[in-house]
Amino acid sequence: MKILVTGGAGYIGSQMVRQLLENKMEVVVADSLENGHRAAIPANVPLRVGDIGDEKFLNDLFAREKFDAVIHFAGYIAVKESVENPLKYFRNNVEKTIRLTSAMLQANVTRLVFSSSAAIYGNPTQVPIPDDHPKQPINPYGESKYLIEKVLHWLGAATPLRAISLRYFNACGAALDGAFGEDHPDEGHIIPLALHAAQNGKPFLLFGDDYKTRDGACVRDYIHVIDLCDAHLRALDALTRGHATDAYNVGTGRGFSNRAIAESVRRVTGIDFEIQIAPRRPGDPDELVADSSRLQKEFGWQPRHSDLETIVGSAWQWHKSHPRGYGDR
Ligand SMILES: NC(=O)c1ccc[n+]([C@@H]2O[C@H](COP(=O)([O-])OP(=O)(O)OC[C@H]3O[C@@H](n4cnc5c(N)ncnc54)[C@H](O)[C@@H]3O)[C@@H](O)[C@H]2O)c1
Repeated sequence: MKILVTGGAGYIGSQMVRQLLENKMEVVVADSLENGHRAAIPANVPLRVGDIGDEKFLNDLFAREKFDAVIHFAGYIAVKESVENPLKYFRNNVEKTIRLTSAMLQANVTRLVFSSSAAIYGNPTQVPIPDDHPKQPINPYGESKYLIEKVLHWLGAATPLRAISLRYFNACGAALDGAFGEDHPDEGHIIPLALHAAQNGKPFLLFGDDYKTRDGACVRDYIHVIDLCDAHLRALDALTRGHATDAYNVGTGRGFSNRAIAESVRRVTGIDFEIQIAPRRPGDPDELVADSSRLQKEFGWQPRHSDLETIVGSAWQWHKSHPRGYGDR
């Protein structure tokens, strides 16, 4: 199988590329490199640098090679920024994804795995959150993912395109050998932020301690990036066997508070940094924990690396050996 990975120079996409190669698939990456890193892509994988909103770039891409499927990671990911600049998110995550699906249909590429998010649920009324929980996003980022899920649903009804949307909870961790990991510009994710605090002797900012949770800090479900990519392989396999368009949660079913994460980073690094309470970030729900039982039952998926020690330990190994990330910014 030949797979086009959009956003393959980013954090999750670059891990996906490795797992596709391990599974003997041929891979091409399309990435604007706006937030990704050339060095994150193995040297033997072709990288097409361009924007998936650029129709000429897309048409060339699909004209040049025959892909069996697309795994679509390209997008913007910062909730806070999406609240401040919604159009930026609707343009990049919605409008450009629609262009991608249109180019796929034109080229008769009919299998798509899409990076959705737990952010589509907003403040859940039921935790763990089942796949059929009402979708009420509370920020433009979550709305942009939900809009695409709806587009894919209607395309599934009217065209040959079949898509599986995977609603990631908090993707985290790094390669188990520490060879690559998370390097986002303007990092907003808690584990790298806590590791930076440990590494640089700075206080760790805990955004809000008055959420409706046991210790007042937000609660999230942390899924190791390797387990997350394994879910994509299974989704791809299901599509190849003729699976209909659908959407699944990908999480462990266990929630950890931001405070528990900071404490785990202290434990793993052996560095006792200060935890400083800061104002809430806009758009952050109290608690997001997945019920992934449908994914487990239907695809035989199980998280294997998502215990907190492995997650924080692998991330620490990467950050320790790459204090400036990929070093290209
Ligand atoms: N990281 C998480 O915890 C998380 C959780 C839920 C969903 N997701 C989704 O997973 C996907 C990947 O997330 P990530 O953490 O790897 O982000 P990332 O920023 O590391 O990777 C995204 C990549 O897409 C590229 N890109 C963005 N817009 C593009 C465009 N228009 N054309 C071409 N390339 C473009 C960027 O350069 C970057 O390399 C995103 O769609 C994100 O919304 C991530």
